[in-house]
Amino acid sequence: MPEGTTIAVIGAGGKMGTRVSNNLAASDYSVLYSENSTAGQERLESAGLDVTPSDDAVRVADVVILAVPDVVLGTVSEDVVPKMTPGSILLTLDPAAAYAGQLAERSDIHFAVAHPCHPSVFLERTTTEQWQDTFGGVAAPQEVVAALEGADDAVRERAEAVISTIYAPVIAVHWVTVRQLAVLEPTLVETIACMIGEFLNEALDETVNTAGVPREAARAILYGHTWIALTNGLRGSNPFSDACHIAMDYGRDKIIKPTWKEIFDDSQLDDVIARMLRIDAVKR
Ligand SMILES: NC(=O)c1ccc[n+]([C@@H]2O[C@H](COP(=O)([O-])OP(=O)(O)OC[C@H]3O[C@@H](n4cnc5c(N)ncnc54)[C@H](O)[C@@H]3O)[C@@H](O)[C@H]2O)c1
Repeated sequence: MPEGTTIAVIGAGGKMGTRVSNNLAASDYSVLYSENSTAGQERLESAGLDVTPSDDAVRVADVVILAVPDVVLGTVSEDVVPKMTPGSILLTLDPAAAYAGQLAERSDIHFAVAHPCHPSVFLERTTTEQWQDTFGGVAAPQEVVAALEGADDAVRERAEAVISTIYAPVIAVHWVTVRQLAVLEPTLVETIACMIGEFLNEALDETVNTAGVPREAARAILYGHTWIALTNGLRGSNPFSDACHIAMDYGRDKIIKPTWKEIFDDSQLDDVIARMLRIDAVKR
């Protein structure tokens, strides 16, 4: 219930902080914005939002959102968590630090993580604003994956209301464990999907620069076939032709290591998360 609920956004002038703050500013929540960099503070002020010192904001908040870089989440949480009100919720926006045991511990507050899915490639967009909102959180509806372990339904409902506001418009929030959320991001969507997105761009450059195909022709056929590859591959919309299957098998053989599924082993997940957080190892 927004009325009477106070939310503190720490790192409110950063990339996610700005998105989250814009949506909260348009809600019925009472919101306090904290930001320690001059550039971030100026961004908040130019958006008409007052900056509150983080200590003051955290002490009165029912929900504290940490929108700070993942590599400092451990240190920032050491500072923030002891000052929070009993029963309040600490919400982080990425599972890496929670999974790695980097967040300060406290038994009388709740720890939630919520990551936006971004608007689906298959979303039936009907307006220009929805097409322009590639990231989500403005006009294009998206889903969210979130984790909140060991809390009752009432706490989960409070968290879900805030999560649905910061990432609005939201279609659904999917509740998973912190580990499952870490398998989704980074493994499924960064290690695989984002890597493939950049790989496609590199393949386009190679087609133009090495094979000498005009860029416009190469771009046109790649963008169209990327759609077909996704809709056939993910949804089975049309069958790939027999000849296409031969080329696909050749590509898999040439490009993909037979051992690629190792990335789903917990030890590999631990390794990539430790690298992302620039720590020696995750804590179990
Ligand atoms: N950027 C994305 O696309 C994206 C998407 C989903 C989730 N996330 C998550 O959102 C979180 C923030 O990432 P970001 O990309 O917005 O980072 P960012 O670097 O853009 O912004 C972080 C902000 O936090 C401020 N800050 C740092 N320490 C602070 C402190 N002690 N007190 C107050 N402010 C402080 C910085 O000045 C900066 O303005 C991370 O957990 C990240 O994984 C980011």
